[in-house]
Amino acid sequence: MRVQSLHIQGFRNLSKATLEFDPDSNFVGFVGSNGQGKTNVLETLFLLGISKSFRTAENEEMIGFDQDFFSLKGELERKDGKVTAEVILTRVPAKKTLKINGGIKKASDYIGNLGVVFFSPDDLGMVHLSPSLRRRYLDLLLSQLDREYLENALKYQSAIKQRNSLLRRISDGQAQVGELEFWDQELANSGSVMRQKRETVVKKISDFVRPYYKEASGTQDELSIEYLPSGGHDSSADALMAMLQKNHSRDVAMGSTQSGPHRDDLQFLCNGHDLASFGSRGEWRSLVLTLKFAEIELLKEKNGEAPILLLDDVFSELDESRQKTLFNSIKGCQTFVTTTHQEFLDMVEGKKQVFRVSEGIIGAS
Ligand SMILES: Nc1ncnc2c1ncn2[C@@H]1O[C@H](COP(=O)(O)OP(=O)(O)OP(=O)(O)O)[C@@H](O)[C@H]1O
Ligand SMILES: [Mg+2]
Repeated sequence: MRVQSLHIQGFRNLSKATLEFDPDSNFVGFVGSNGQGKTNVLETLFLLGISKSFRTAENEEMIGFDQDFFSLKGELERKDGKVTAEVILTRVPAKKTLKINGGIKKASDYIGNLGVVFFSPDDLGMVHLSPSLRRRYLDLLLSQLDREYLENALKYQSAIKQRNSLLRRISDGQAQVGELEFWDQELANSGSVMRQKRETVVKKISDFVRPYYKEASGTQDELSIEYLPSGGHDSSADALMAMLQKNHSRDVAMGSTQSGPHRDDLQFLCNGHDLASFGSRGEWRSLVLTLKFAEIELLKEKNGEAPILLLDDVFSELDESRQKTLFNSIKGCQTFVTTTHQEFLDMVEGKKQVFRVSEGIIGAS
């Protein structure tokens, strides 16, 4: 999969840009000082694939300060032909429109058209910070791999909002506990599909990363990944339903749903020890690198072609040997890299196309 060209209008500080990517080069660099718009360019490519940002849930934040909308258009080259993907967001009314070949699509039909893997130093937080970052990794990957997962995850998200609002109304005496049954069943049905698919993919990732981790860390350490479902290991809809019903009074008291797939977690074990507590920063780097390789491989397997890869400022976090491991493993992917230092790009072998980014203007280097 390749992006042939990218048209940006009104996105953050990138007011207008058209980039044509060199068909003979798989490596595109964006060089510039801090705060010039390099990460913004990667964010546009991520949005074209995933329809969401990697750094904000507030869509409006991405519209240029003095603009009423942004529009992104990518011409994609895939093994099944050329495809045009578009994301348009207006401020008033606050509305996102997704298009494939000019036709409007809902999110579940849009996501997956362009496989994307994103990697930045902030990903290290996935190992030792909040469980939400680990779930995000799983959700992002599964949303691109499995349409049924994505549809169920979207249903689940909407049902959780409804159930939580009902819990607060029950707590205020404005609704009855019996009204929870409908939303419990919705959550149990969609949550059960999510759980089963998460379980399967975590096993796949765990098997995949084991040998890679040895290579990335230069050790014989045994890495394994455990899936930790919240509220019980049985992923059937009946078990989820029973768990939700058992917790009615607690959920009403808390005003929100305390257990379920939206609280699941992952644990990374190295020789049986939890890397979040006992790992060094270098071990975390090796782990995150191998998790990214797993994302690339699973997307390749599903699509029959490599995803695009977005690397934001990774040179600052990876030492030379890990950079080599990374660049050796991603040769098949069209790769977009940001850096403040041109000399980092000189270390990468092969033909490169380099753009300079300055105050939101993207020019040839
Ligand atoms: N909605 C917006 N409208 C206009 N400008 C914005 C908007 N959101 C962010 N910016 C600007 O974008 C710039 C940051 O861009 P970006 O994060 O891409 O920088 P960068 O080149 O990656 O920098 P660094 O090297 O520090 O990571 C800032 O100057 C910020 O003010
Ligand atoms: Mg940046």
